[in-house]
Amino acid sequence: MNILLTGGTGYIGSHTAITLHQNNHNVILYDNLTNSREETLFKIKTSLGLNLKLVIGDVLDTKTLEDTLNKYKINAVIHFAGLKSVDESITQPKKYFENNVNGTHSLIKAMKAVKVKTLIFSSSATVYGEPKYLPIDENHPKNPENPYGASKLKVENILKSLSMSDPSWKIVCLRYFNPIGSHEDVNIGDNPVGTANNLFPIILKVLKKKIKILEIFGKDYDTNDGTGIRDYIYIMDLVEGHLAALNYLKLNSGWHDVNLGTGKGYSVLEIIEKFQSVNNVIIPFKYSPRRKGDVSESYADVRKAKELLGWEARNSLDVMCKSVLKYFVLEQTSKKNVF
Ligand SMILES: NC(=O)c1ccc[n+]([C@@H]2O[C@H](COP(=O)([O-])OP(=O)(O)OC[C@H]3O[C@@H](n4cnc5c(N)ncnc54)[C@H](O)[C@@H]3O)[C@@H](O)[C@H]2O)c1
Repeated sequence: MNILLTGGTGYIGSHTAITLHQNNHNVILYDNLTNSREETLFKIKTSLGLNLKLVIGDVLDTKTLEDTLNKYKINAVIHFAGLKSVDESITQPKKYFENNVNGTHSLIKAMKAVKVKTLIFSSSATVYGEPKYLPIDENHPKNPENPYGASKLKVENILKSLSMSDPSWKIVCLRYFNPIGSHEDVNIGDNPVGTANNLFPIILKVLKKKIKILEIFGKDYDTNDGTGIRDYIYIMDLVEGHLAALNYLKLNSGWHDVNLGTGKGYSVLEIIEKFQSVNNVIIPFKYSPRRKGDVSESYADVRKAKELLGWEARNSLDVMCKSVLKYFVLEQTSKKNVF
């Protein structure tokens, strides 16, 4: 299949590109590089010998999207492109709706024009908001606590309506929980251009000594140790979920929402302890007040992913923590080799 990955040079897009390419798909990346770097392609090429094609473009630019879909005879799109910082979305909500919602409108317009109707959308567990029950299944009420989550929910609703108005669309909406780690053999990882907001990119900044101390936001949540609980999933497991979704769409149309997580929650303190023990490093931390827009606890009910897609996460938290450190070491080594 010829597959277009919007946001393809970003963290999840670049990892997905590798796996799709290795599964004999022809992959085209489309990205405006607001939160990623072109050098990711160079790293993939030098480490794995894969020559991935990149179109530098904005999803808001419908004409360039349409030309790209035509030129590469695209059969399916995975729509990763989006802004993802909860913090930034609170201070600049308009930017998030403009980019994430209007960007999707533009993509749908381009896809309609060239009659490509197979789409996987990167949504987020953030759409659920503060859990009413745990684990969170796909029917859980959607009450996002921040504009980022609200923009994702808006896109979900647009895609659902689209498939109701034209049942020939094939859409899987994947709700990611917390992807972490990196590919085994390439030094690409979750390395945002802007401010790091997620736990592991912040841990990386502490290791790189760009931040002195890790801030734990909130120690008064109603959890075992007072810190927030999340469902962390290894990036390569998450990527496999996209392959499974593509396979599913070969035979199924309509709109399908699926959680991608492990089904197990860990607190921030548990993560720090695990990261320190498996990697034999020290991560200094301090407590700060809760962050606006964060929920106390979130982990997935993963039964639908297994039943519908035949997919489940396989890797443990140990693997994920080791992978994050390996990425850090590879980064440091490659920097030494350059200078
Ligand atoms: N990483 C997570 O924890 C997480 C969790 C849930 C959902 N998601 C969603 O998954 C998707 C991918 O996340 P990621 O972690 O790889 O983020 P990322 O920021 O690394 O990748 C997103 C990519 O989209 C690009 N992009 C943004 N706006 C664009 C536009 N208008 N036109 C073209 N390109 C644009 C960025 O340059 C970046 O390369 C996002 O939609 C995000 O909201 C991520």
